Amino acid sequence: MSHSTDTSLGQKVSALLTTRNLGRPLHYAHTVTSTNTLAMEAVQLNASHGTAFLTDYQTNGYGRRGRLWQAAKGQNLTFSIILRLPISDTVTGMVPLAAAFAVSEAVAKIVSPNNPQLKWPNDILLEGRKICGILLQSFGAPVTPMVLGIGLNVNQSIFPPELSGSATSLLLATGQHVDRASMMANVLLRLEKILELLSTDPALIRKRYTENLMGVGKSCQITGVNEKIIGTLIGIAESGALILETRQGLRTIYAGDVSLYMAYN
Ligand code: BTN
Repeated sequence: MSHSTDTSLGQKVSALLTTRNLGRPLHYAHTVTSTNTLAMEAVQLNASHGTAFLTDYQTNGYGRRGRLWQAAKGQNLTFSIILRLPISDTVTGMVPLAAAFAVSEAVAKIVSPNNPQLKWPNDILLEGRKICGILLQSFGAPVTPMVLGIGLNVNQSIFPPELSGSATSLLLATGQHVDRASMMANVLLRLEKILELLSTDPALIRKRYTENLMGVGKSCQITGVNEKIIGTLIGIAESGALILETRQGLRTIYAGDVSLYMAYN
């Protein structure tokens, strides 16, 4: 990890943290390749639950399906957390959804009365534009330990042309500069609470996630799988999979290489 003398963001977050485990310890560096890469390496060195990596700039940030994750330097929140959770294999599939819900709660506080929406499995959208992407990585089977990577657009106002129609930020949504350190401290606190709740009451998390899920009751198309699947979005299974009602009957779509598009409204 390359180190910089400007550790102010990391120090500010640490000073504001009220979590028990998440963000403890918090490793900050001004520029890194990818915080997910660093966290995956740290998992193999037995880093503990809650250990987090935060940066102001990634040279090699990546997202789901091998896509690039681009975020302007020093304006956003780009971090990854190691999770070692005492949950069953079934509930593990709900972790990325629970994480998206937790971040969306923190976003909702800032953008109220506007309401963020969740796009299955774990994108957060504001007025149809993506404000946060989440990438959960594990070693082989979906079991803990896992690395949860979060890219939240905070104060970025100009996006590259290929993203300008589909991305937004807290600044663009509110017209106000948002303090990144307090936002991150708040995200980590909500995340900790929601992940605790996930182990005691997964049904409640599923209910709250589904209340904010985009497209429920609407016709959707799943792409990125071998076949084209069209159906009405019914809800979420215990495993976090998406349930669609298709002409052939109910279909369960598992998290993976799929995207969801509203086919018609
Ligand atoms: C997606 O929408 O495809 C997921 C994007 C995840 C981006 C975050 S930024 C912090 C962490 N480091 C990475 O390289 N990726 C994740």
